[in-house]
Amino acid sequence: MDCYQKLIVKPLTGDLRHDTYQFLVDNGRPDTAQHCLDVGDEARNIALQYGIDPDAAAYSGYLHDISAVIPNEERIATAQELSIEVLLEEEVFPMIIHQKLSRQMAIDLFKVDDHQIVDAAGCHTTLRANPTELDKVLFVADKIAWDQPGKPPYWYEIKQALEQSLDKACFSYIDYLWQRQAQLKVVHPWLRDAYYELRVKL
Ligand SMILES: [Fe+2]
Ligand SMILES: [Fe+2]
Repeated sequence: MDCYQKLIVKPLTGDLRHDTYQFLVDNGRPDTAQHCLDVGDEARNIALQYGIDPDAAAYSGYLHDISAVIPNEERIATAQELSIEVLLEEEVFPMIIHQKLSRQMAIDLFKVDDHQIVDAAGCHTTLRANPTELDKVLFVADKIAWDQPGKPPYWYEIKQALEQSLDKACFSYIDYLWQRQAQLKVVHPWLRDAYYELRVKL
């Protein structure tokens, strides 16, 4: 793929934690490299708490933001080149398509063929309707180990909810966003689906 040609991609060692970290550092995103490790570790812990495959959870965390190496202004064109469906909300706010780009790059560049792992990376920002347990683990891990300094404003609520259930933890964050809808650039339809589904379920 042409869109991958500008990227530095070293031969894979088989250690996904190392390879994703190295890839992000090599392509100028050391900040995201650390964030992906943190999210992978957080996802592993949450998975252990809920009896979900801890390795799958960690892998999805290492991979989830690998598309940070693609500049925002190139994301829509890159998605089109990779035959990824681009929704209107994503065209308006391209940052949000980075989840789908990470999914495809995990397959193409890191040769990950476990669809549960790549699909979790593919919805880590918005969640989706009928999420898998792994989707929920990664979604929550990414919000707890966020990519900004200090603790996020919703940290206490999501941690408390996580003591009760994964669904409650997901809902705690989505509801936080929902109350601030006016400040959001767009409401992604997958987030809307997840919100209404969880609201009914809980
Ligand atoms: Fe992300
Ligand atoms: Fe992230």
